[in-house]
Amino acid sequence: MAHDVTLIPGDGIGTEITAATLRVLDATGVEFAWDRVEVGEVSLAAGGPVLPEEVYDSIRRTGVSLKGPVATPVAGGHRSVNVTIRKTLDLYACVRPVRNLPGIKTPFDGVDLTIVRENTEGLYSGIEHMVTEGVAESLKVITHKGSTRIARYAFEYARKRGIGKVTAVHKANIMKVSDGLFLECVRAVRPEFPEIEYNEMIVDNCAMQLVRWPEQFGVLVMNNLYGDILSDLCAGLVGGLGVAPGANIGEMGAIFEPIHGTAPDIAGKGWANPTGMLLSATMLLDHIGEDAAAARLKAAMDAVLEKGEVRTRDLGGKAGTDEYADALIKALAG
Ligand code: NAI
Repeated sequence: MAHDVTLIPGDGIGTEITAATLRVLDATGVEFAWDRVEVGEVSLAAGGPVLPEEVYDSIRRTGVSLKGPVATPVAGGHRSVNVTIRKTLDLYACVRPVRNLPGIKTPFDGVDLTIVRENTEGLYSGIEHMVTEGVAESLKVITHKGSTRIARYAFEYARKRGIGKVTAVHKANIMKVSDGLFLECVRAVRPEFPEIEYNEMIVDNCAMQLVRWPEQFGVLVMNNLYGDILSDLCAGLVGGLGVAPGANIGEMGAIFEPIHGTAPDIAGKGWANPTGMLLSATMLLDHIGEDAAAARLKAAMDAVLEKGEVRTRDLGGKAGTDEYADALIKALAG
């Protein structure tokens, strides 16, 4: 039976990597009944709202979505579609695994870590205002409920996958009340997982440790802003934004999407690397119980990347999005 999945192609390179991903997914033999919904600039251009209600209706029905990146105007304009969807559906856990890929030379070999980012509060609560002329205020909202559930998610994620270490990343030395509460909640959950090693790290030190000794980390749990920044940093450890997958998970559903944005500098050129979206698709396949197809797709990507003949430009190759997708389809068939 076909799997019902909401498809949000997004804009910029989103449409290009989505088309490539769908072709490759088709070659896995898994059947999908895609419910395609346009948002952001694509929806606006068609005379629709920036975030149509049918996005929520669809995800509430299917419970799972594959999504491309969606642009957000800088300093003004509409609120981020991405943040709004995650918040409205309460997709509180943003999970971003970071692993070395075969054949991709980077300064480190043993990178195998996962960022678990709180996705619904912190500085992304969107509560901002001008206090008086020349003075702006942005509220960082940290709750006991939000911090406790993300802490438990991170430890459970580690336990399920046999990952031996969880690191809580914070700035509680300066933000003693907000990050202090976050840390207090992680510490309260920690005794439920005695087999897992636990440590705490201040976020600025963590940024340095990640670019010196990334091999020391297993799961890193943190609030919204730190997770956003450090996951891009971590993508840089294993080949860049083009290869980094992610998932936004909550009780109401799960959205799988690459961590990168719409890449306006290369949009329309056919150069975008769909690996981040394809790895997100492997996470989706696992999520819907198609583990064997996920493993085959991952093996096909490993094989093509290791061979190195067909690689996109961000990885030092010359191949376009479609040529790389063709090579993956061939590898899946072979
Ligand atoms: P970006 O991630 O779009 O691009 C940063 C750099 O990485 C660019 O040089 C780009 O060419 C490169 N890059 C990104 N993805 C790539 C891929 N798949 N293949 C090859 N190269 C790739 O970040 P930027 O420029 O800061 O943001 C552009 C727009 O995307 C903004 O409107 C931003 O709000 C939005 N955005 C959306 C996200 C989402 O929908 N989840 C996440 C991050 C940003």
